[in-house]
Amino acid sequence: MAKLKIRKVGDEVLTRVCRPVEEITPRILTLLDDMTETMRAADGCGLAAPQVGILRRIVVIEVEEGKVIELINPKIIATAGEQEGPEGCLSVPGRSGIVKRPRHVTVRAMDRHGNTFDMSGSDLLARAFCHELDHLDGKLYLQRASRMLNEEND
Ligand code: NI
Repeated sequence: MAKLKIRKVGDEVLTRVCRPVEEITPRILTLLDDMTETMRAADGCGLAAPQVGILRRIVVIEVEEGKVIELINPKIIATAGEQEGPEGCLSVPGRSGIVKRPRHVTVRAMDRHGNTFDMSGSDLLARAFCHELDHLDGKLYLQRASRMLNEEND
């Protein structure tokens, strides 16, 4: 596994719409592994492929330690309720902001074996689904934040 470079806000790659994965190749499997390693090394709870410069619809999430969720070509198929809370992003270091998201989210995605599955999550996991899937459409939480909680001092 290899740790990849995380792209930061201002990098054009973070604004692009990603292409679906058509075939799960060894390269895609390596990318999944590398994304998990990169997310963990950065102490994050989610990472999307464009954040490491790859314009593919791939996401990894780990909101519960040791339980990595890999999503290939994920889509939100249901939402319910609402939550408002702080959100950060590995591509926007040192900052966080208040974002409104659904309380419950169900996604449909493909796993690394090519099987389609549905997964439902609430609270932090629902927020992570929304945040990471936004990345696949070139969106950062900054565009959705009602207010920022801190500014970077430099
Ligand atoms: Ni992010």
